[in-house]
Amino acid sequence: MSGAAKLISLLIIAIFIDPSHSYTDSFLYGGCSPLKYAPDSPYEWNVNSLLTSLVNSATYSAYNNFTIVGSSPQDVVYGLFQCRGDLSMPECATCVGRAVSQVGSLCSHACGGAVQLQGCYVKYDNDTFLGVEDKTEVLKRCGPSDGYDADAMGRRDAVLASLVSAGGPYRVGRSGKVLGMTQCVGDLSTGQCQDCTGEAIGRLKGECSTGAYGDVFLGKCYARYSTNGAQLFSKGNDGGECLLLL
Ligand SMILES: *[C@@H]1O[C@H](CO)[C@@H](O)[C@H](O)[C@H]1NC(C)=O
Ligand SMILES: *[C@@H]1O[C@H](CO)[C@@H](O)[C@H](O)[C@H]1NC(C)=O
Repeated sequence: MSGAAKLISLLIIAIFIDPSHSYTDSFLYGGCSPLKYAPDSPYEWNVNSLLTSLVNSATYSAYNNFTIVGSSPQDVVYGLFQCRGDLSMPECATCVGRAVSQVGSLCSHACGGAVQLQGCYVKYDNDTFLGVEDKTEVLKRCGPSDGYDADAMGRRDAVLASLVSAGGPYRVGRSGKVLGMTQCVGDLSTGQCQDCTGEAIGRLKGECSTGAYGDVFLGKCYARYSTNGAQLFSKGNDGGECLLLL
């Protein structure tokens, strides 16, 4: 059983997007381990040290992982962040800073936690999850099918097919106004990323059917499309998201 599966507890969280933050930093989902650690414990110091390392590292890297052992192996904590492939370094740093502050308030004293914003993902836990593929579905959103447009759906299928065969952790494809995008977390191997991406795209196509847009977030990768592509990257107001989590 994966670490993520062990920590699964479904939480419904409503977060209002603070308008002073950009769309890139807006909240998609978050979740916390039900296990709690004692305040002022060595584990808490390690978590704080880990989160600080993530924020610092995001000023020069789009992905990194850390393992904080501290003075005792039982207090070990693992963590990582992943910025979306198109973000600049300053955008990545801002996004990770925001994600770390959100995971801190959302998962206060939780042994593990994760937050996905539009532009970046952060996760920490005391059970090692680094390098482990995780295809648990954590968030799915499908747009309405009204106004079904056969041309747009044909383009959507072609874009998604091109993303399956494109390589790399971040993939983007466009046909007319249709835009598709996938992103793996950087701890996956090339083969794991390909497998996870293929799974996310398959579910996206199957579950969102003829929706005007769709998002499928799995534990270690996601796939998204929009028949009005601008929506995937726009700075527009996403409104408050009601969310689910790991
Ligand atoms: C994580 O911490 C919890 C609570 O202290 C503990 O019960 C669990 O065994 C720890 N998991 C690992 C892998 O150390
Ligand atoms: C974690 O980071 C270390 C040091 O940067 C790196 O050597 C290792 O490959 C990374 N592990 C994973 C699973 O990404």
